[in-house]
Amino acid sequence: MTYRTVITGASSGIGRATALLLARDAHALILNARRAHELQTLAESCLSGGACSVSVVVGDISDPHTAPEVADAVAMSGLGEVVLVNCAGTAAFGQFHEQEIETAIGMVDVILGGAMRATHALLPAMLANGSGTVINVLSIAARQDFGGSQAYCAAKAGLAAFSRTLSLDYRAQGIRVTNVLPGATDTPLWDEIENHPAREDMLPAKAVAETIKYLIDLPRDRAIDEIVLTPPKGTL
Ligand SMILES: NC(=O)c1ccc[n+]([C@@H]2O[C@H](COP(=O)([O-])OP(=O)(O)OC[C@H]3O[C@@H](n4cnc5c(N)ncnc54)[C@H](OP(=O)(O)O)[C@@H]3O)[C@@H](O)[C@H]2O)c1
Repeated sequence: MTYRTVITGASSGIGRATALLLARDAHALILNARRAHELQTLAESCLSGGACSVSVVVGDISDPHTAPEVADAVAMSGLGEVVLVNCAGTAAFGQFHEQEIETAIGMVDVILGGAMRATHALLPAMLANGSGTVINVLSIAARQDFGGSQAYCAAKAGLAAFSRTLSLDYRAQGIRVTNVLPGATDTPLWDEIENHPAREDMLPAKAVAETIKYLIDLPRDRAIDEIVLTPPKGTL
């Protein structure tokens, strides 16, 4: 199978680990995030790691112009099943009244709005192919409330609901939608967050990447709607 795989939030953490893993399977990769240098360096590593081709789309996925650019890059990337891994996200925690409202709304714009924009831009190509895969990197926070995580929980729960409905509407047309709900994962997301769980107790980013690869490679005679992936000690 040949895959044209879009990863949003590819410059770091889970997205980056996923790009490096899928490169080994010769995916044609379309990598999106805001940091150009990190994406360019990753693109070189993916190419030397076996990727069939790599396109870089630098831009904020919550910006209306970015997702159409991603779709253009997919159209230029040859043939093959279109896979979308919605991984872009930011996290900031604390008391809601003490947070800048733009920070809180920004999380929803990127996590939920960005995934909706990318999905909207890529669905036509999937429908034209009669198949496609959308994998949303959600979080345990999509189903469990954590104090101080109002906007993050809202964005993840909203994306979970969006995705379940998307699956209902498009699965008969060959489009699989899977929500992946990882627990705490050792990535730079935690760098600016005080009092985070011990990094040695977290999932490695590679474990989430391996789960995403498993879902992409799943035979077409089955679909997995949701995977909850926790560190061995459970929710941290
Ligand atoms: N780490 C965890 O414990 C954990 C657990 C469950 C779920 N998750 C989810 O996993 C996903 C990846 O997070 P991570 O842990 O790998 O954190 P990370 O290392 O901070 O990666 C976040 C990625 O999102 C990108 N991004 C942020 N805002 C963006 C925007 N507006 N447009 C495009 N890209 C944007 C970042 O790149 P740029 O800064 O270059 O734009 C970066 O590549 C997130 O959705 C997160 O909520 C993480």
